[in-house]
Amino acid sequence: MNATDPTKRVVRARRIQFAYPAGTLARHYVDGDLVTSHAIAFLSATFPEGEDFFVRSVRRCAGEITDPELKSQVQGFIGQEVTHGREHRALNERLQEMGYPTRRWDRTTRRVMARYERFFSPLTCLAITAALEHFTAVFAETLLGDERAQALLGSTEVRSMLLWHAIEESEHRSVAIDVYRAAGGTERRRIWAMRGISIRFATAIVVNTTLSLLGDRAAYNPIRLVRSLAALPRLPFLARAVQRRVGAYTKQGFHPDDTDNTALLQYWTAELFGEKGTLTDHLR
Ligand SMILES: [Fe+2]
Ligand SMILES: [Fe+2]
Repeated sequence: MNATDPTKRVVRARRIQFAYPAGTLARHYVDGDLVTSHAIAFLSATFPEGEDFFVRSVRRCAGEITDPELKSQVQGFIGQEVTHGREHRALNERLQEMGYPTRRWDRTTRRVMARYERFFSPLTCLAITAALEHFTAVFAETLLGDERAQALLGSTEVRSMLLWHAIEESEHRSVAIDVYRAAGGTERRRIWAMRGISIRFATAIVVNTTLSLLGDRAAYNPIRLVRSLAALPRLPFLARAVQRRVGAYTKQGFHPDDTDNTALLQYWTAELFGEKGTLTDHLR
């Protein structure tokens, strides 16, 4: 398997803005599907507070870094995550108006992150960050690499926004783990953090998606609900290959660059932000 050349890594925040005028998004904006629309709304709601936690965790341990390359990547990482948080807040407000409880999810995420910071050391918070960044990067690269995943989002502004977010998650996927290692983090702590957070993350998605569905009248249509649940095993984000990539994190010596993302990033950067890029008009 090819690896990414770390010297070619560029992490830089784009100044970008999306808009979701009222009436431009259908209630079930993910291909009319119940479960994935609620699940993605939940994930979007957790991003702003989650990404703030990532930034604080990286910042608190970044004092140990001597490598100028990594230092500059940390700055890029912070700029990217701050922009993601701001843009997800805008989307979350729209989703709240459409009936998804994103404000409540946002408050819960803030409480959970504050609890982590109270109970865990800065290095463990960074290990949790690196583990969650791995999840984000694998899902991001699945969206960028699988046409079926892109097709689910149709041609909505949510699709454009998630593609931009996915590019930047792939660009900075190594920053948290590199800072963790530079700060002296052990493999044991890194792997245990992933095991713990995987259970927490999977439970949160299942529980909150279910509760959210209970508040949606459309979910009481048995045919629609059964059809949506039956489609889950075919969801690109739950494919075997994706599960294997997530699981690879618990191997000793794992590094995100073990999987080459160069071609994927080149393609999407040109497609969205090149001369005829479809999102060039969104840049400020
Ligand atoms: Fe992000
Ligand atoms: Fe990230």
